[in-house]
Amino acid sequence: MSRIAVIAGDGIGQEVIAEAQKALSVALPGYESTEYDLGARLYNRTGEVLPESVLSELDGHDAILLGAIGDPSVPPGVLERGLLLRLRFEFDQYVNLRPSRLYPGATSPLADVKPGDIDFVVVREGTEGLYTGAGGNLHTGSPAEIATEESLNTRYGTERVIRDAFERARRRRGHLTLVHKTNVLVHAGGLWKRTFDDVAAEYQDVTTEYQHVDAAAMFLVNRPHTFDVIVTDNLFGDILTDIAAAVTGGIGLAATGSINPDHTHPSTFEPVHGSAPDIAGQGIADPVAAISSTALLLEHLGRADAAAAVNAAVERELASRDSGTTIRTGEVGDRVAADVAGQL
Ligand code: NAI
Ligand code: MG
Repeated sequence: MSRIAVIAGDGIGQEVIAEAQKALSVALPGYESTEYDLGARLYNRTGEVLPESVLSELDGHDAILLGAIGDPSVPPGVLERGLLLRLRFEFDQYVNLRPSRLYPGATSPLADVKPGDIDFVVVREGTEGLYTGAGGNLHTGSPAEIATEESLNTRYGTERVIRDAFERARRRRGHLTLVHKTNVLVHAGGLWKRTFDDVAAEYQDVTTEYQHVDAAAMFLVNRPHTFDVIVTDNLFGDILTDIAAAVTGGIGLAATGSINPDHTHPSTFEPVHGSAPDIAGQGIADPVAAISSTALLLEHLGRADAAAAVNAAVERELASRDSGTTIRTGEVGDRVAADVAGQL
């Protein structure tokens, strides 16, 4: 029996996760869920972000389904570093996976792109780079203040994420693009490029390409159909995946997994969007991104059949929408869950 930890979090996180769980209970009948109250509400009540006891309880689950955390009342960084990043580091979630697909019915801001034209995944490194917190401030607040933020890259860390990306490319259309900035960031870029070339030698069936991150940002906009799998470091991946979400119809549809491919700790699946305080409590948040994140979760648990059913239901839901109609969160969840039930 699969054990899923559920962190619905703040704002619309609560609303969209309720709908994701409707789909999940059909796709993964009898799964056991444990709800954890974490996020801005807990922080404002007790000052706690991720108590040690909760961290070790989470570790006993097969996966974590997360809504969104954050509220204007919490200083920036507290929850991002203390909860989201902490889970990635503690649970060694070194693959941050973000599929980007333009579904029929979703509107891209790009002219002349049709459904099916955009279908790629970004494999973003999740445990190294500029996100480790290495660095510091000196003479803080004075005119002489110094700040450093160091990018940490290891052969071990780059090799394992690059291997994962090659495996995914092999299961898809067989094309992998490395994105970095080797012409300026020669130290880290050199390590990434050499590791990439070494691993590529073992994957003769995968065609490879290298792009500087600035060029990749442009190509994601003017020729997104040329991408299949992209592998890149933590910061570049963060930025590129927001461009990717935008060109495929927006943040309300994008899902992500912070994955430990070795299954030594649970992986986290969540919509890319945040807690959207501007629309929270109105029942109008789109739950599609949260529902799609359950498909990633199912795939990670080896339930490709159930994942495909959820994806097909999402595809039909989006195709059925008229542009301009207001979404009712609960109705979308009911429709998608019923569709999944009809398939399995
Ligand atoms: P946001 O993603 O919450 O909202 C940005 C805009 O998109 C808003 O206008 C919102 O109404 C809209 N939107 C987002 N999700 C939607 C959905 N499912 N359906 C319809 N519209 C949707 O980003 P924002 O406003 O920058 O951040 C709000 C809070 O969320 C902050 O506290 C931030 O720190 C947190 N946040 C948390 C994330 C996470 O838990 N992984 C990720 C991003 C932000
Ligand atoms: Mg981001």
